Amino acid sequence: MTGVLRRLGPFAAFITLVALACAPGGGTPEALRTGRSVYGDNCSSCHGNAGQGGVGPSLKNVLSTWPLCADQKEWITLGSEGWKEVHGPTYGANNAEIKTKMPAHADKLSPDEIAAVAAFERVQYGGGDAETELAACGVADD
Ligand code: HEC
Repeated sequence: MTGVLRRLGPFAAFITLVALACAPGGGTPEALRTGRSVYGDNCSSCHGNAGQGGVGPSLKNVLSTWPLCADQKEWITLGSEGWKEVHGPTYGANNAEIKTKMPAHADKLSPDEIAAVAAFERVQYGGGDAETELAACGVADD
């Protein structure tokens, strides 16, 4: 590694620094860490510990399902039964049919926790840009 760096010079060193700065854990905003822990405690049992799905669907298409984070937050807040009452039998931009049951989180999580977990899903599993999605979900990046 160091040998390669020496041969490639300062440019490679710079790239390595950028890569380290962007690596998970290094510069992860506090809100995404909160989101990860909310996810682990409340969502991973159904959506998988890597968002791969299980009882609930995989979260890899979360950005196309919910172009607006506000709608995703409402879904998490209401759960599938509450959503049905307000919006009818389908959810998301692709009008997916509600087939099973996702619990409501209105009484379990604060609005800030719901915003944090929504942003976490969009970044970690949807591949969204952290800064963009934190802003889209109304999460203060600190
Ligand atoms: C008891 C199982 C269960 C738990 C716990 C659960 N979900 Fe779900 N989730 C589902 C099911 C099932 C669906 C699909 C809708 C349906 O058929 O009711 C879903 C759908 C979703 C979707 C839409 C995904 C897509 O692209 O189709 C999102 C986003 C989501 N859940 C987020 C969460 C979050 C965030 C939490 C934790 C705060 C959570 N879920 C907890 C079962 C669960």
